Amino acid sequence: MRHLLDTKDLTRAEAIRILDVAEDMADTQQREVKKLPALRGKTVVNLFFEDSTRTRISFEAAAKRLSADVINFSAKGSSVSKGESLQDTAQTLQAMSADAVVIRHAASGAPRTLAASGWISAGVVNAGDGTHAHPTQALLDAYTMRKRRYGADSRGRDLQGFRVTIVGDVLHSRVARSNVWLLQTLGADVTLVAPPTLVPQDVSDWPVQVGFDLDAAVAEGPDAIMMLRIQLERMHAAFFPSEREYARTWGLTPDRLAALPDDTIVMHPGPMNRGLEISSEAADSPRSTVLEQVTNGVSVRMAVLYLLLSGSNENEE
Ligand code: CP
Repeated sequence: MRHLLDTKDLTRAEAIRILDVAEDMADTQQREVKKLPALRGKTVVNLFFEDSTRTRISFEAAAKRLSADVINFSAKGSSVSKGESLQDTAQTLQAMSADAVVIRHAASGAPRTLAASGWISAGVVNAGDGTHAHPTQALLDAYTMRKRRYGADSRGRDLQGFRVTIVGDVLHSRVARSNVWLLQTLGADVTLVAPPTLVPQDVSDWPVQVGFDLDAAVAEGPDAIMMLRIQLERMHAAFFPSEREYARTWGLTPDRLAALPDDTIVMHPGPMNRGLEISSEAADSPRSTVLEQVTNGVSVRMAVLYLLLSGSNENEE
């Protein structure tokens, strides 16, 4: 694997290989000494032009647990705020001999531009670009679903027939887009449920069913229900009812949680708007995988960095 830009680029074999290597990495994280020497001498740069808690910290933890050197770059406080371009920033990193660049950017397509630019020779990992893609989030979500379904027997498996309902602000969600393509590749059945104003115009090209009634979707008893963050910072006022109306109609309330089957898992990529798209009762319930997703994110990002930087191409199609 040279870069990881979009789950749309992954074959079934490549996706399963990443999830299987993440299983191996998770096993090493149970040991007293968590650190592995696999990426000693390599340099990973976290290049974050947008805010992040989970993704940035877990890439840092993942790289350090593989013994790589880590440089954290945040646009705030850097020369980007003086107008420095992506090209000049990237070439500065090239001059510092970065082996991998993990990039989050507000512009959809920025990671692919960087990977194709020739400005750097490093492998590029997309840590979230605009409303376009967030591939490692989708991989850690798929890992979490597979683990819940197959437990210790997960290796080599896909998600054939697993029924996933993704709810909320699909329009602005790179998490939803990356999940849809990866889940299709792994054989899952995906339903999107959202207010009509928050469904993307090109959704008819997506491999999903679309609904507008959350109670009906809950009554179907999905294997997983994934609540999306309402992205108020990207929202046009005309697209959004009041917060109270949204929570009543589209939120995972205690009543809807109670109406779900006992074995439905409740997912959210974080950060959560408690009381808006998800109630605290749902977020903190035993069915919630919110913190498990964070833990799994470290193993999945270890796998991605390992496959990118160790030259391990086994099982590539
Ligand atoms: N899920 C996710 O991308 O969270 P952060 O924005 O905190 O990285």
